[in-house]
Amino acid sequence: MAHDLVIVANRLPVDRVAGPDGKMGWRASPGGLVSAIEPVMRAGDGVWIGWPGGTEQHLEPFDIDGLHLVPMSMTPEEIENHYEGMSNGTLWPLYHDVVAKPEFHREWWHEYVEVNRRFAEKAAELAAPNATVWVHDYQMQMVPQLLRELRPDLRIGFYLHIPFPPAELFQQLPWRRQILEGILGADLVGFQLPGAAQNFVRLVRQRVGHKTHRDLVYLPDGRTVRAAAFPISIDATGFDDLARSEIVARRAQEIREALGNPKKIFLGIDRLDYTKGIYARLRSFGELIRDGELDVDEAVFVQVAVPSREQVEQYRLLRDEIDRLVGRLNGDLGRIGKPLISYLHSSYPREEMAALYRAADIMVVTPYRDGMNLVAKEYVACRVDEDGALVLSEFAGAADELRQAWLVNPYDIDGMKAALLSACRADEHELTKRMRAMRKQITQHDVKAWAESFMTELDAEREHTKTVRSADRS
Ligand code: F6P
Repeated sequence: MAHDLVIVANRLPVDRVAGPDGKMGWRASPGGLVSAIEPVMRAGDGVWIGWPGGTEQHLEPFDIDGLHLVPMSMTPEEIENHYEGMSNGTLWPLYHDVVAKPEFHREWWHEYVEVNRRFAEKAAELAAPNATVWVHDYQMQMVPQLLRELRPDLRIGFYLHIPFPPAELFQQLPWRRQILEGILGADLVGFQLPGAAQNFVRLVRQRVGHKTHRDLVYLPDGRTVRAAAFPISIDATGFDDLARSEIVARRAQEIREALGNPKKIFLGIDRLDYTKGIYARLRSFGELIRDGELDVDEAVFVQVAVPSREQVEQYRLLRDEIDRLVGRLNGDLGRIGKPLISYLHSSYPREEMAALYRAADIMVVTPYRDGMNLVAKEYVACRVDEDGALVLSEFAGAADELRQAWLVNPYDIDGMKAALLSACRADEHELTKRMRAMRKQITQHDVKAWAESFMTELDAEREHTKTVRSADRS
């Protein structure tokens, strides 16, 4: 069957996992992309192409909760080279300010292109004439070009969920020109922030040599490509409703009690990733306890670290580092029944996350670099009583919108300590003033508005190209 909307992403919104009885089933997969796209898919009759995780081959398309999903299998070599290698060993660290050192391997690159080709071929097969294909994220940057070669009739959008680095970093990439040309197969290229779009246009001018003007790239074949910012958001009303529900309110209360009803609960929720700044954040909190600024009888830090990319070396090292730090802090500074860090290495369903957000007085989101960070927005959406404080890294995309957070430089431990204390000691009036403004921002700019604005622009860009081309012909 042909579809008018095709979503192409590295992952499906579900994972293929074995249950305790050994039977295979589906489970919601972690990450911001899923929560962002799901509402868009449900609204239209779209199909989603992606990898379900694991190495199972020959999976049939299936529907789940009204979503049409087409699983793309990957071989162990493809996982190693395309996913763990090129995507998460090269592009991820390079695009995140080289927080970890990117590795460049030719066999990773070749497999990346081949996997992108397979995804492009599947999209070409499933898309109706003149359909819209929306390609997502850094694992799929070659798809727009490969797809356009197969199906020039399609309207193609590309959205990068993570930062796009400045030229000084991007040009380290041995395949920089190919990646830029890969993305330029799209009609519209979306980024989280205007600075990323500007980085892209500048690089296209310098490295590919195309003419550009402001946010437009002029290609030799007459097409124009627009690069612009579309800051992603969350289903704010959905989170608000969930947080207000009886079950979540009760669970939030239970969590506070289980922690010994401390005066202040600090919370961090992140994928266990070296970009997230978990180590420095816990260290800051530990120093505040050590210095006597906070009392272990009155304050606790709950850190949820969602397991992620566990086969990649850097992630394993990080896990060990955090394990050691938590053990040391609790061992040195905790008391019987009073660890200062309550550390959970696990993923949780939305309801439990909402209960944690409701239970926490201070949410601490301190990545070294982050495309957006939806956890920050989810916390705000769940603060239905207009209280709670957000401590947020300046280097998260969300800082552009959530200006009333306590903004911090995550490399500055003393600055972070001061912000944690200030957020902890803020009075009710100040908390409400800040939270109210942030709630207004995310309610007015939710994920529905994000998807609609991207789709509207994509239509407009395609029309623009058609008009220019027919004018050229006449
Ligand atoms: O937001 C970046 C991202 O890589 C998404 O593309 C992905 O869904 C999520 O993080 C989780 O990462 P992974 O698919 O590697 O588990």
